[in-house]
Amino acid sequence: MENTSPAIQYFADPGLWLLSTANTAYLFGRSANGRVQHLYWGEKITDAQDVSAFGLIAEGDPVGDYDVIAVQLQRKGLVPVDEYPAWGGFFYQEPCLKATFAGGVRDSHLVYSRHEVKTTSDGLPLLVVTLKETLYPLEVDLYYKVVPELDLLERWSVVRNTGQERIELEAALSAGWHLPNRVQGQYRLTHLTGRWNTECQVRHDLLPDGKTTLESRRAITSAEMNPFFALDWWDADSGGAGEESGEVWFGALGWSGSWKITLERSADPERVYIAGGVQDFEFRWQLGAGEEFTTPPFTAGFTANGFGQASRNLHRYQLDYLLPRSHARKLRPVIYNSWEVYFFDFNEEKQFELADRAARLGVELFVIDDGWYGRRWSDRVSLGDWFVSPEKFPNGLGPLIKRVNELGMNFGLWVEPESVNADSDLYRAHPDWVYNFPRRPRNEVRKAMMLNLARPEVATYIFDCLDKLLSQNNISYIKWDFNRPITEPGWPDAPLEHQREIYVRHVTALYEVVDRLRAKYPAVAWEACSSGGARLDLGMIRHFDQVWPSDNTDPFDRLFIQEGYSFAYAPKTMVNWVTESNGSHSINNQALNLRYRFHSAMTGTLGVGEDLHRYTPEYEAEVAAYIREYKAIRPIVQEGDLYRLISPRRGSLAALEYVKPDRSEAVVFVYRHTEHYWFSAARVRLCGLDPARSYRVEGLRREIVVSGQSLMSLGLLPELSGHFASALIKLTAL
Ligand code: GLA
Repeated sequence: MENTSPAIQYFADPGLWLLSTANTAYLFGRSANGRVQHLYWGEKITDAQDVSAFGLIAEGDPVGDYDVIAVQLQRKGLVPVDEYPAWGGFFYQEPCLKATFAGGVRDSHLVYSRHEVKTTSDGLPLLVVTLKETLYPLEVDLYYKVVPELDLLERWSVVRNTGQERIELEAALSAGWHLPNRVQGQYRLTHLTGRWNTECQVRHDLLPDGKTTLESRRAITSAEMNPFFALDWWDADSGGAGEESGEVWFGALGWSGSWKITLERSADPERVYIAGGVQDFEFRWQLGAGEEFTTPPFTAGFTANGFGQASRNLHRYQLDYLLPRSHARKLRPVIYNSWEVYFFDFNEEKQFELADRAARLGVELFVIDDGWYGRRWSDRVSLGDWFVSPEKFPNGLGPLIKRVNELGMNFGLWVEPESVNADSDLYRAHPDWVYNFPRRPRNEVRKAMMLNLARPEVATYIFDCLDKLLSQNNISYIKWDFNRPITEPGWPDAPLEHQREIYVRHVTALYEVVDRLRAKYPAVAWEACSSGGARLDLGMIRHFDQVWPSDNTDPFDRLFIQEGYSFAYAPKTMVNWVTESNGSHSINNQALNLRYRFHSAMTGTLGVGEDLHRYTPEYEAEVAAYIREYKAIRPIVQEGDLYRLISPRRGSLAALEYVKPDRSEAVVFVYRHTEHYWFSAARVRLCGLDPARSYRVEGLRREIVVSGQSLMSLGLLPELSGHFASALIKLTAL
């Protein structure tokens, strides 16, 4: 054995890589003919010698004789599939790679070429296994970044043309994942679906035979499906995994455009193969001599401790590795945003007044949303014209920002740089800057078209507009919105063979513009938004500090949206506003009490979106008290471990708990939707506390001191009365 790192071991004979994390093992190897094949992913393999002892790999199989290999491996109870399957030979499933070589050959055979173990800039072990095509000048680097303490692997691939002639890629996915073969049960899929105002709805479905596809073809991540999956093992006797127990394999893709995750099941024994990456529908990429195509990362993990642990591992990975480092450890400020009150109807004077009132509440970041630029009195005009409206702000933004800063708040601004209205100076000057097909209509959404960021001059224009705004004004935060999916995805000026590259080029240009602006203005924080939560994914979380999950701010609906969000994404990144009790979008038309609205919104990054002009002194004092309370628990909510104690999907009661990593403090939110049938009280059992320590419990009728053990076994009895009742309970270890 060649011991390269405790997390990455290579056994030269017979040619096996064992990736080990605290609690999991991931094993793959090379067969005698050089194929790199997956062997195992799941609970830890305790003794590395076992790997060789089992003689896991197939022997002496000729290239292309896939059946021989498959039968040999199946007899050993293993997954007989290539680690990164290419389309060719007898492979009929979803290929990670589909390429066309010179002369139209579309059959690929990838074999082992070399491998290397490195350390990433963030100190993590990284394995790179390079495959090469047996005949044509193509190489694929398979990257495996191991996050040992979080039981995660981040994988991506680099496809390289090492020859002179062009190679066309029709699919280049990030990674393939293979689950262990099992019998007497079925893998069950958990994923997030939705639509505008109803994002991140959790669904559990038994995986049917054949292929299940989760995807977006919209050039944005989409509200309809989120690039996250979890699979657990379900059987009729024991059911599937729960929040805190059971085996779960899970993953999320770091890509903010069109994407695809396919899950293929074949039964007896149950086998599941997952492939994911940039959507291949409509995808084409030309690899010229010496060129490379780098796929987005696909991060996945395994846990034996249920969906809750899967989420906590993903959350910690975002806090410790993924979120932009400049802000990752900073607490997210309390926001005020008047969008839902005034929409486009405001001016300098109104904003001055709002700023005074917001400061009294304890707001830390005062934001002006859509409407501050061009002639923007409605959503029909001015997208693209990023100059301050002379009508609304005759003195520019300067005086307002100065006032906001004097009041002790930071100032933030909304932009939607990827969109343009036909009625704008930008579109009049550059009608060719939008995606379009000649002689076809240019479909509009909210009267907006989509700028073609694949064109370098468009990306430069956007950079320059933002650069100017940020250099001339003391802006601390940008809300970067994007409010439409793509239609007529044409780029008529580009050479025909490059026209379909827009899906990738748009997203990489977006990331690049934001990264360049971040580098130049490191103090600025960035929020991603897309008609609510239509661009929520690990790609955005790598480049932005927080995300707007939904335009639906109804506090009860939000419990469901926020729960789904938390399956994959960290609470710190999730922005929740308390809005008018009837909701600006008049969603559900229900007037709920302030306490419940705050308790619903306090579970991530808090914002207020109410009409502050309507506040009475008493109401203002109440709001200020909630904001003070939020600030006191904010470090636990934003940086703690989340336990979804009771799901709102199960009934009338819901509960969430956030525990500080050292288990010295925790907060519990309990919500009750409806009181009916003389609702008998239910105890809520906590998780993740130190059983040996005593905790002071505040927020019940009287303060008590109880052991962590009892809180986790007997549980708490929250006192809730009436409909839409809620409680916030604080625990402090003594
Ligand atoms: C989108 C966002 C909202 C708001 C409006 C402004 O709908 O989701 O939060 O910013 O755009 O037009």
